[in-house]
Amino acid sequence: MPETTEAPVMEPRPVSAPIGVLVEGAGRTFHGRDGAVEALRGMELRARPGELVAVVGASGCGKSTLLELICGLQPPDSGSVRSDPAVLMPQRDLLLPWASALDNAALALRARGLGRDEARAQAQPLFTRFGLAGFERARPAALSGGMRQRVAFVRTLLAGKPVLALDEPFAALDALTRQELHGWLIATLAAEPRTVVLVTHDVEEAVLLADRVVVMSPRPGRAVLTLEIPLPHPRKRTDAAVVELRERALQALGLAA
Ligand SMILES: Nc1ncnc2c1ncn2[C@@H]1O[C@H](COP(=O)(O)OP(=O)(O)O)[C@@H](O)[C@H]1O
Ligand SMILES: [Mg+2]
Repeated sequence: MPETTEAPVMEPRPVSAPIGVLVEGAGRTFHGRDGAVEALRGMELRARPGELVAVVGASGCGKSTLLELICGLQPPDSGSVRSDPAVLMPQRDLLLPWASALDNAALALRARGLGRDEARAQAQPLFTRFGLAGFERARPAALSGGMRQRVAFVRTLLAGKPVLALDEPFAALDALTRQELHGWLIATLAAEPRTVVLVTHDVEEAVLLADRVVVMSPRPGRAVLTLEIPLPHPRKRTDAAVVELRERALQALGLAA
């Protein structure tokens, strides 16, 4: 019988092009004992691949709910939410208190099936890049707030997802530490681009970091203003353009002086 070279039964599936994050007309209502809470209604947000979009709004306006929709942790009741695979960095750092800092950072790799030593080895370079070298064996309780946030952020990066959903990652930090972490974030994204949706209640932080700022208003949570921020990094809070954009966002929040 002559030898034949068989064509594959199926063509390899094309790797689909990245879409970033697309939230269109998304609604989400919670039904509790005290009635219904409409957390989101007609929410709109778009982050193109590689963009950093900041979401600002008062406490309770649906920011965390929005991130959970993006990460597929809960479904919208209406509208559509589409995203490249996304990982959530939750509002609380959720480090395991009994595990070392390095093992906490490497957790995402363990979750992806790597053995302990391999996970540690792969986590080490990022751990070092984030100024955590020397603290590998420290327990979270022995770390400063800024270091804990960095460990949590390294863990989020190591999840290997193209979209990062960061829920108020700098909220609990003092101003100096926050500024330092802003620098780490921008440098990291320049080195290895990701699509980022960053939730914050700090308008200035949003304008300093983002390509676009989405301002939300509460009850029900929705986007009331989208600001493009076409300014190069590093940005200073005293830059005239930064000041002006901050004022416009504050106005949309009803907080202008
Ligand atoms: N699982 C839930 N069950 C009931 N209500 C919820 C739930 N999650 C959020 N909410 C309510 O939805 C609203 C928006 O919450 P959230 O998304 O956490 O806002 P934010 O992150 O902007 O503070 C709030 O009123 C909150 O109490
Ligand atoms: Mg929240």
